[in-house]
Amino acid sequence: MTESSPSFIRNRGQISYTFQDVGAYGEFLNTNRLNAWRRALELTGAKREGKSVDLGCSYGSWADNWQALGLSDVTGLDVNADVIEQARNRLGKAEHGGSGRIAALPSPPDNVACNGMIVHVLDEDEELRIFTDVRGGLKPNGWFFVSVLNSDFYLSPSGFQPHTGPNSCTRTLDFHESLLAKAGFEIAHTVGTFINPWFCEGMRKSADKRLQEDGRFFVAMTVLADALRDADQVKPFSEVLLACRAR
Ligand SMILES: C[S@@+](CC[C@H](N)C(=O)[O-])C[C@H]1O[C@@H](n2cnc3c(N)ncnc32)[C@H](O)[C@@H]1O
Repeated sequence: MTESSPSFIRNRGQISYTFQDVGAYGEFLNTNRLNAWRRALELTGAKREGKSVDLGCSYGSWADNWQALGLSDVTGLDVNADVIEQARNRLGKAEHGGSGRIAALPSPPDNVACNGMIVHVLDEDEELRIFTDVRGGLKPNGWFFVSVLNSDFYLSPSGFQPHTGPNSCTRTLDFHESLLAKAGFEIAHTVGTFINPWFCEGMRKSADKRLQEDGRFFVAMTVLADALRDADQVKPFSEVLLACRAR
């Protein structure tokens, strides 16, 4: 492993924690992500009973979510070999590997879901390769659902600017959109997932530890997100779910 290895190799084994590992904040994230997924499935009419791939599935953290959303045939893929057995127990099917394995599955999937993974892909070339692999492996009329952070409304050590940390990063929505276009995708719908209580300069003080533990902030941001999502607004979401199809 060298500094020039892809980021998932440099960070292998360090980034398989999920929303289930971060207490009340994780519950907040998951409630909002589930609401966003419901909206995205409604807008796209994606085949829930078809074959779906959970790319970057970790230890199968989305198993209950897939059941709640009615996605019944899900195969997990993850580059971290240590999580596969548990993922298989939870999802039913899981394989060790990244986006390149999609084309090798017994049949092309109707849906590829990628939650909380692109945040850990630090290199532009690697992100483009993942999108290109998905585009090549998906059924012709299939859907690619990918969640990305929006640096305009996500507080990082660089403020509300794109940031690259040791194993995670934030980018603008334009950055991700241009890579998806290069890979041959069009974004049919952009659905907001969650709004952090500290989503802009004026709210920075809400990132205070004591306030972060006050659940009322999460309730307020969930209600705000539901209203904005129903109105198809993208601002000021800290994360969005992009529903993409082949151009
Ligand atoms: C933060 S976890 C998210 C897990 C789950 N999708 C969720 O939202 O709860 C990110 C996962 O993506 C995996 N990962 C990172 N880069 C990957 C890649 N290029 N291909 C497949 N999995 C990858 C990591 O090993 C890790 O398990």
